Amino acid sequence: MCGIIGYVGPRPAQEVLLNGLERLEYRGYDSVGVALLDGSQIQVAKQMGRIAGLREKLAAAPLAGHSGIGHTRWATHGQPSDQNAHPHTDCSGHIAVVHNGIIENEAALRQELIAGGHHFRSETDTEVIAHLIEEADGESLSDAVRAIRQRLRGSYAIAVLDTRHPDEIVVARNEAPLVIGLGEGERFVASDIPAFLPYTRWVVPLEDGDTASLKRDELVLWNAAGERITRQPYVISWSAEAAERSGYTTFMEKEIHEQPRAWRETMRGRLAIVSPRQWELHLDEEAPKPQEWQRLHQLFLIGCGTAYHAAMVGGRFFEQLARVAPTVDLASEFRYRDPIIGPGDIAIFVSQSGETADTLAAMRLAKAQGATTVAVTNVVGSTLAREADRVFYIQAGPEIAVASTKAYTTQVIALALLALDLGHQNGQLNPERAMALVQALLDLPRLGESLLDQSAQWEPLAAAIANASSAFYLGRGLDWAAALEGALKMKEISYVHAEAYAAGELKHGTLALVEAATPVVALITQPHLVEKSLSNLREVKARGASVLAITSEGLSKAVGEVADAVLVLPDIDPLATPVLAALPLQVLALMAATLRGNDVDKPRNLAKSVTVE
Ligand code: AGP
Repeated sequence: MCGIIGYVGPRPAQEVLLNGLERLEYRGYDSVGVALLDGSQIQVAKQMGRIAGLREKLAAAPLAGHSGIGHTRWATHGQPSDQNAHPHTDCSGHIAVVHNGIIENEAALRQELIAGGHHFRSETDTEVIAHLIEEADGESLSDAVRAIRQRLRGSYAIAVLDTRHPDEIVVARNEAPLVIGLGEGERFVASDIPAFLPYTRWVVPLEDGDTASLKRDELVLWNAAGERITRQPYVISWSAEAAERSGYTTFMEKEIHEQPRAWRETMRGRLAIVSPRQWELHLDEEAPKPQEWQRLHQLFLIGCGTAYHAAMVGGRFFEQLARVAPTVDLASEFRYRDPIIGPGDIAIFVSQSGETADTLAAMRLAKAQGATTVAVTNVVGSTLAREADRVFYIQAGPEIAVASTKAYTTQVIALALLALDLGHQNGQLNPERAMALVQALLDLPRLGESLLDQSAQWEPLAAAIANASSAFYLGRGLDWAAALEGALKMKEISYVHAEAYAAGELKHGTLALVEAATPVVALITQPHLVEKSLSNLREVKARGASVLAITSEGLSKAVGEVADAVLVLPDIDPLATPVLAALPLQVLALMAATLRGNDVDKPRNLAKSVTVE
């Protein structure tokens, strides 16, 4: 999605803006631009392509000014082009705007403005905002911005410069992320925190409907009703380096190897074994209240992409530990199927960014129908975090690579903790079963570290898939959900067409696609399903497939007699295996993508956070 950065303060703004945009590159973009206000003049430099290209252009002709706005564009209205790149200005050149989101009524507004004599230079919806502000009356820039907001329909995070207010940036947000950074005598605004983290860790989140005026030593906020408000700033614990690669080749590699530490952070202060037969779980405000769990009517687990796969795994935890069968749904399906949900129901929304448009819309629908909503998210202050009734932060630290890795496994752990909580509250939790799982969860970081230490050995297995045009991922039960996530990882960064199937489904059609040397990755970690899974392996091998089995130590002998290659996971409680199994599945995808020379952190066509429908 688009990235926004704004700065007002004593520094030369150009470097702050470019530096900030570089930290937002992971959001995916096709063009880039900056506007600086020097004295009474706005200067704009923008073009298609990467930030490095704009840097080169500015090296020859730098822009002066101590306030400015910058933008990386991911096209939604109008082709990627120099003209369509942001910032956009009004007819007079007094006003410059950058925008993330979609103005749904832009066609009518554009027509009205053209009839009123305005000249448009781009095909974007954003440009209407600049001309509306040009038209708006109002003493101050913030008055003008608050006035034109009444005309806009859709999602928007905007930052505005005006030559008549040289030391001010006005910003507004509605269903698109925007956060403010507070520095000493300087102010920042950005779509995401890493953009200004090297300069300040003090953050003020904006809510939908907010407008804000940023000056060097001043921040004024108004809510949707136009009332002046204050917001409590919070401190970001991440260091600027934490969002860097810290020595790994790619963010994805770094984030894969960070997982054992992330798992510890997810469980820190929440889960502990206090004696050989006793464990404690402290979720406090992060879970539904005991009476809400006890009164539970229906349970929903909802997400998109990888977050949906985490919800699939989590759904099994609720079945096994609390004997509650949740509805697990894609947010984009849930929001349009007129779901039967209401008071007494609990809906858990899984989202790394907390800004995914479909997930937000689904949460708002559930909330409007009276359900208790729980956000399982990674981003403090994200929209999902602030609007849901309860928030469970997965504490995975910044996840920069588009392909989600540590967020997925920490989401799975978070859902395991919530399932333990429900099982405890509704009395369905078998004490021995629970103790075994708690021990397994607390063992995960150590076992994950030892597994990742072997990852270099998996390269030949990755090469077999990297050289194929398609691959199948098979699994039964929890292994099926794990296979779905493994196939998505492979698809989204190696671009090899990988399909995950419930292993029992193959003979109902897909087996027709299996031919000599088709790579098949089979997850076999569930002891009660081994025999059935092995017969599925024999089915595909009989058609010439080459089978890599990912299995547990204790099952590896039987599995090794059928599979062509075996990748062995440490033995652990079967409910915890999807977390461990994710590691080789992620590494295989990373290695295959690297072998194919792909941009691992920023795969084609994809964005880190899908903040539009
Ligand atoms: C997964 O690797 C992808 N990046 C994508 O499927 C992602 O999980 C999905 O867009 C949901 O994002 P969220 O968790 O931020 O809501």
